Amino acid sequence: MATKFFDHKKIERNVTLLAALSLAVVAIGGIVEIAPLFWIDNTIEKVEGMRPYTPLEQAGRNIYIREGCYNCHSQMIRPFRDETERYGHYSLAAESMYDHPFQWGSKRTGPDLARVGGRYSDEWHVQHLIDPRAVVPESIMPPYAFLAERDLKAGDMAKDLTALSRVGVPYTKEDIAKANDDLKAQADPDADTADLLKRYPKAQARDFDGDPSRLTEMDALVAYLQMLGTLVDVESARPQEVRR
Ligand code: HEC
Repeated sequence: MATKFFDHKKIERNVTLLAALSLAVVAIGGIVEIAPLFWIDNTIEKVEGMRPYTPLEQAGRNIYIREGCYNCHSQMIRPFRDETERYGHYSLAAESMYDHPFQWGSKRTGPDLARVGGRYSDEWHVQHLIDPRAVVPESIMPPYAFLAERDLKAGDMAKDLTALSRVGVPYTKEDIAKANDDLKAQADPDADTADLLKRYPKAQARDFDGDPSRLTEMDALVAYLQMLGTLVDVESARPQEVRR
């Protein structure tokens, strides 16, 4: 027999050697799969219309997370007929590209909220959050009436935006410097919001909770709910060949 390059018997009989070589083989396979991700600039296809959250929407999102709304609500419409007929176009990856943390969710005691923005009026949301059974008699959602009573204590939104920018959300220096003013302006019907709207296209600026004299946690949460799924024109983002 020709001289063997290596003696396989030796490997099979030496458990340490076997383990070490197995690890090397598996590692090569792993690197081949994982390494390209480090060089691809973006694994998410960019779509028209996505922008970072406004400070008020972000404050509302913080309340959404604080109150654990994600325990009953998902924010990801799957590409199945029963879901798209009920909730609208399936969610695109880019639609959660600025979500830290994402709110895809794994449980739906209540409906998916990925495209709830604009589906109801602000008054409906306020009523529903104060007393869900006032508008949906069979609802099992808990009431969150205290949100309308509590002044929004968002703290320093510049810090929130700075933290988000560190993990890749493209807030500009101007956005961060104006964060606390933007927060108030978006829910103040008397404020000049032209500059806010220029930096955050499609932002909805108005009083959300029905009490223009105060900035409450309800304002922030309803502002957040009303923008969900409203940024991207999903029909134009869809590849041509699957458009119906
Ligand atoms: C214990 C589970 C539960 C929790 C927690 C919960 N919800 Fe709900 N939610 C429901 C259920 C069930 C419904 C469907 C009945 C209804 O409309 O009230 C619902 C409905 C909704 C709707 C209407 C959706 C639609 O398309 O009709 C919105 C908006 C909503 N919830 C927002 C929230 C927010 C915001 C929070 C956190 C502050 C929250 N929910 C917390 C169970 C929950």
